[in-house]
Amino acid sequence: MEKAFVYGVSVENENFTDRIKETKRLKLNFTNGLNTILISPRRMGKTSLVKKVIDTLDNPEIKVVYMDAYDCRSEYDFYNKFAASVIKQTSSKVDQWLENAKEFLVRVSPKISFSPDPTMDYSVSFGITPETHSPEEILSLPELIGAKKNMHIVVCIDEFQQIGEFPDSLDVQKRLRSVWQHQRYASYCLFGSKKHLMTKLFQNKRMPFYQFGEMMYLDKISTEDWVSYIQYRFKSRNKEISEDWCLEICRITDNYSSYVQQLAWNVLAETDKSVGEEEFKAAKEAMLAQCDALFVQQIQGLTTYQMNLLRAICNGVNNEFMSKKVMDTYNLGTKSNFARIKNALIEKELIEERKDGLYLSDPIFKIWFNSNYND
Ligand SMILES: Nc1ncnc2c1ncn2[C@@H]1O[C@H](COP(=O)(O)OP(=O)(O)OP(=O)(O)O)[C@@H](O)[C@H]1O
Ligand SMILES: [Mg+2]
Repeated sequence: MEKAFVYGVSVENENFTDRIKETKRLKLNFTNGLNTILISPRRMGKTSLVKKVIDTLDNPEIKVVYMDAYDCRSEYDFYNKFAASVIKQTSSKVDQWLENAKEFLVRVSPKISFSPDPTMDYSVSFGITPETHSPEEILSLPELIGAKKNMHIVVCIDEFQQIGEFPDSLDVQKRLRSVWQHQRYASYCLFGSKKHLMTKLFQNKRMPFYQFGEMMYLDKISTEDWVSYIQYRFKSRNKEISEDWCLEICRITDNYSSYVQQLAWNVLAETDKSVGEEEFKAAKEAMLAQCDALFVQQIQGLTTYQMNLLRAICNGVNNEFMSKKVMDTYNLGTKSNFARIKNALIEKELIEERKDGLYLSDPIFKIWFNSNYND
């Protein structure tokens, strides 16, 4: 059954709203072979957007390869997944991948495994090691295949920030960049859920991936779009929600995509016919309860100073932390300590640094924190 609202996984079809401008732009980059780096706060809709563009591409000369690097722990983990994704997804039939593997990836011992579920796909693996293949050989695959088949290959890599965690990460990044930047038949779309790590990889002049491609920042979906989306989804269930309640959903969630859908779903679940005060309140409480375990885990082990800084930010203090007034109220330790406290919270993705100061990264965390730890 089609769901009224979806959160926690990437969305498609009826559950995908707006993003018209971004879809168009990304599609243009794909078809013109431009590298793109997609950055946004967590759960704003990067994966959904890339999948949407892949679905709407109708040019047979362009082949998109999608891979997720979330479980890659080392350079060769990455190459194995990269090679398997490229070979498999540029093969149109199950039996073609083996030929492709033999042609483009000599010296491999390919394995194929079929899922026990007959509707599910199959997966391939090649057992690539430093003894069998050099990094350059693997990284050149899309270019080789593209040239041979006369098509353009776009490789989309989700959770790309993982490469920043590899041993010798900087060397790995240099290798990737130096091979990829000369390719004519392949381009790349790189994105990931850890914004501060992605920013580190791509916006620092000293890093190998600096200016590798167009930086695309995924903004929030507008309130106007959300209101009509929410009302339309309620209507499909023969229920009603006023514009004001939709605005309230957007206000509470600060238009964060995943939370908008989550809260809207809770409101729908609490509502028989039409949304009122009582239903809304219950829905909001349900959402805080759903987030509770995760938030508890996120603040576990924080030091007193780190908690104090969170308190300050949750109370609306965004800068001038070293002023006497803020220090007297929140006790943030010494000046030299402050940078450490701040960076620890940024590393944990609890806060983020914007041009005009420090902010919470998660609007619901802020509400939760204020009701539990701020009086
Ligand atoms: N275009 C959209 N229309 C409606 N809802 C959306 C849209 N994009 C994202 N969402 C909502 O946000 C949730 C997260 O989407 P998605 O997984 O694509 O985000 P992400 O930015 O890749 O997340 P992460 O940072 O965790 O990788 C979805 O489950 C859905 O609830
Ligand atoms: Mg994602």
